[in-house]
Amino acid sequence: MESSDIEGDLEEILLTEEQIRDRLSELSRVIEADYAGEDLLLVGVLKGAVMVMADLARELRLRVTMDWMAVSSYGSGTESSGVVRILKDLDTDLTDRKVLIVEDIIDSGLTLSWLLANLNSRGPESVEVCALLRKPQAARVNVDVKYVGFDIPNKFVVGYGLDYAERYRNLRSVGILAPHVYG
Ligand code: XMP
Ligand code: MG
Repeated sequence: MESSDIEGDLEEILLTEEQIRDRLSELSRVIEADYAGEDLLLVGVLKGAVMVMADLARELRLRVTMDWMAVSSYGSGTESSGVVRILKDLDTDLTDRKVLIVEDIIDSGLTLSWLLANLNSRGPESVEVCALLRKPQAARVNVDVKYVGFDIPNKFVVGYGLDYAERYRNLRSVGILAPHVYG
């Protein structure tokens, strides 16, 4: 299926491939300046952050290593509960490392808040966050996110790694799912 066919399932395209690319390129220049000469560990949160990680990591002119974590939030339906379980842990020892968590989206902030506390307990030199998307109106906890791609409305979005029932992750853009798709 062509990407353009899947885009018919979207009510609205919020961010095009070009907008995402340009913004990640801007963020990369800032990250490069902040970590100049440093060894940076990028920690991607599976599965949603796969696309951001792939594009951000290739854009960065820095020495980086990459590792992955998979976590699941317990809770009812689409609501995050803040109680998080590790499904796949890092292979990397974080002692004295400079860590940048790479996330797709910050919604309530509960998952990220837990993740920050967890990684900070492992003796890293620093832990910062880069998230492509953030929903300010959905925030339930304040999390300090150093690098944010875009603030978006409080709507369920898919594409560029984000899914609805595991689909749409391969869309090149980010959009709001059309109501007919839920049917
Ligand atoms: P919290 O609420 O803990 O949740 O910040 C973060 C995680 O929830 C998922 N999430 C979404 N996934 N479209 C998605 O496809 C969305 O609009 C959305 N909002 C939250 C995502 O896994 C994120 O890491
Ligand atoms: Mg995620």
